[in-house]
Amino acid sequence: MNIIRIEETASTNTRLIEMASSGPLEEGTVLLTREQTSGRGQAGNYWESEPGKNLTFSMLLNPDFLNLRQHFLLSEMVSNSIRQVLDQYIDQVTIKWPNDIYFRNKKMAGILIENSILSERITQSVIGIGLNVNQEQFRSDAPNPVSLEQILGSETDPDLLLEALINQLKLNYEKLKAGKTDEIRQFYHDSLYRRNGYHLFSDATGEFLAEINSVADDGVLYLKTRSGEIKPYLFKEVAFVF
Ligand code: BTN
Repeated sequence: MNIIRIEETASTNTRLIEMASSGPLEEGTVLLTREQTSGRGQAGNYWESEPGKNLTFSMLLNPDFLNLRQHFLLSEMVSNSIRQVLDQYIDQVTIKWPNDIYFRNKKMAGILIENSILSERITQSVIGIGLNVNQEQFRSDAPNPVSLEQILGSETDPDLLLEALINQLKLNYEKLKAGKTDEIRQFYHDSLYRRNGYHLFSDATGEFLAEINSVADDGVLYLKTRSGEIKPYLFKEVAFVF
C-alpha cells in the first residue's frame, strides 16, 4: 500500500492531482493529511475537518477501462465501500444520492471525485474522501454533520478505519475492473437513503411527494410522483426535504 502522509495541505485532491501531473505515480497511491486548510466539497463548498480528528485523504486511480459516460460507477463503488466499512461499526448507514454517506438524517462522509478524460476514457480519477471520525463539534454552517464519535460515544482509531477503507476500495475497484457492474449498481441502489416509500422533495417548482424510482448509469435520479409521473434530476436540481 502506497500511503503518503503529510502534516498539512490545502486540499489532498488538489495536491494529489499536482503530484500525478509532475511524474508517474503508482495507481492506488493514497495521500492523507492531518489538516486541510482549504478542504473542498462538492459544488464549490468548503469541507470542515478539525485537524487530526478525522480522515481526509485522496486515492489515485487510472480507470481507463471506463468510458466517460460510465463515470457514475466510480461514485457508486466509492460510496458502497464507505458504507461497507461503516457497517462494521454502526447500523443505519445509507447513501444519500448522489454520494453523501448518511447516518440516519446526518452526514458522516463526503466524496469529491475529480476525473481527467482523454478520448472519452477516464484516464485518471482522484477520489477524495472526508470521513468524520472523532470530531466532537462542528463549527461551520454545514447543515447536518455527524461523526462516528458522536454516534458511538467513544473514539475510533482513524488508522484502522483508513486501512479497512483502502482494502474495501481496492476490492470494489477490482470488481469494477472485472465488469461486475450490476453487483455495484444493485448494492448502491439497495443502500440509498429514503429508498422506500414516498418522501418530500423540492425542485425549482416547489415541494412535492415522490419515491425514488431509479438512478441511471449516468447518475440521473428518477423520481416517481404520486400521480405516476417519472421525473429526471441532475445533482442540485432536487433536494430532500427534512
Ligand atoms: C462533499 O461536499 O460532500 C465532498 C467532501 C469531500 C471532502 C474530501 S476531504 C479529502 C479530499 N480533499 C478535498 O479537498 N476534498 C476531499
